[in-house]
Amino acid sequence: MKRVILVGFMGCGKSTLGKKLAKRLSIPFLDSDEEIEKGVLMSVGEIFGAHGESRFREIETEFIETLFDEGDFVLATGGGMPCFNKNMESLNKLGTSFYLERSPKELAHRLRNAKTQRPLISGLSDEDLLSFIEEKLSEREEAYKQATFVLSREEQTPEHIESLILLLQKG
Ligand code: S3P
Repeated sequence: MKRVILVGFMGCGKSTLGKKLAKRLSIPFLDSDEEIEKGVLMSVGEIFGAHGESRFREIETEFIETLFDEGDFVLATGGGMPCFNKNMESLNKLGTSFYLERSPKELAHRLRNAKTQRPLISGLSDEDLLSFIEEKLSEREEAYKQATFVLSREEQTPEHIESLILLLQKG
């Protein structure tokens, strides 16, 4: 069974890489935020606004449970998913996880024009964005680093991930 789980901070490129990887492996691609939005017929921003972050985190945990009934997939997780409710443990039971490591500066650069859809950063100025990322990333890294593989920027390619999966399957 090929279940591949990409974790990492907002803006690290989970969805972009995930789509390419799914294509290469010829398996479905799932984006946890999109699946949750389809399930509750609300955007992530609306869920945060109407029910608060804690309800969103419960929904994320419930969503992970549904994936144990699925076959092969590449999953791009929401940036906070691994950091609540022992979700990282569940994700590791589900399949092979990869942490896409990026520096705070790089993340800030990548997120500068992608704040609106993300309730945690939508109200931040560019100056505050970097300090927010530094602080949150340092809190979250412990969870992210429980991933099966930690990938540096250069290693974040579909080819490299495929070769690691093949290695695991042989071993
Ligand atoms: C969040 C990341 C978002 C989304 C929500 C909360 C976070 O997903 O789940 O806005 O806590 O880091 P992306 O990582 O896809 O932006």
